[in-house]
Amino acid sequence: MENKFYLELINQYSELIRDEKDFLTNAANLNALIYHNLPNLNWVGFYMMKDGELVLSTFQGKTACVRIEVGKGVCGKCVEWKKTLIVDNVHNFEGHIACDSASNSEITIPIVYKDKIIGVYDVDSPIFSRFTADENSLFDELLKLLLNKSNVDRFINYYKAS
Ligand code: SME
Repeated sequence: MENKFYLELINQYSELIRDEKDFLTNAANLNALIYHNLPNLNWVGFYMMKDGELVLSTFQGKTACVRIEVGKGVCGKCVEWKKTLIVDNVHNFEGHIACDSASNSEITIPIVYKDKIIGVYDVDSPIFSRFTADENSLFDELLKLLLNKSNVDRFINYYKAS
């Protein structure tokens, strides 16, 4: 990571979650940090796996679709294909789910914990080709911190119990 601003954001996030282990709390703050510091974004948030499908979790932006089946939309494909997807023009992505008609490009990153995909981190932009390898690295680093510092097992058990 060579982008100085992104390095600062990573340090800032590390400080922000230093004394907190709650996964949802730390995920919520990650959304706020990204949404209010990166230009040209209209949505950032988490879809978490529950009962075999993606369910809307913490986010910043307009209201969004609540459940996405694995294999549907960019988020569902991200789970099915088990890889990060950078979509320069969402209108060319077959099956793209338009929660906010302002979105033109998107990145989805699988959230992997103990070798399992437990969710997807999804970021949308109103401009085309917004996401590059730099943003991909930034989000990867932030998600790594989130997973390392938070009690993920407790969050997963809460999902199983509810
Ligand atoms: N565009 C996503 C749906 C989620 S919204 O962008 C918040 C998709 O195609 O899966």
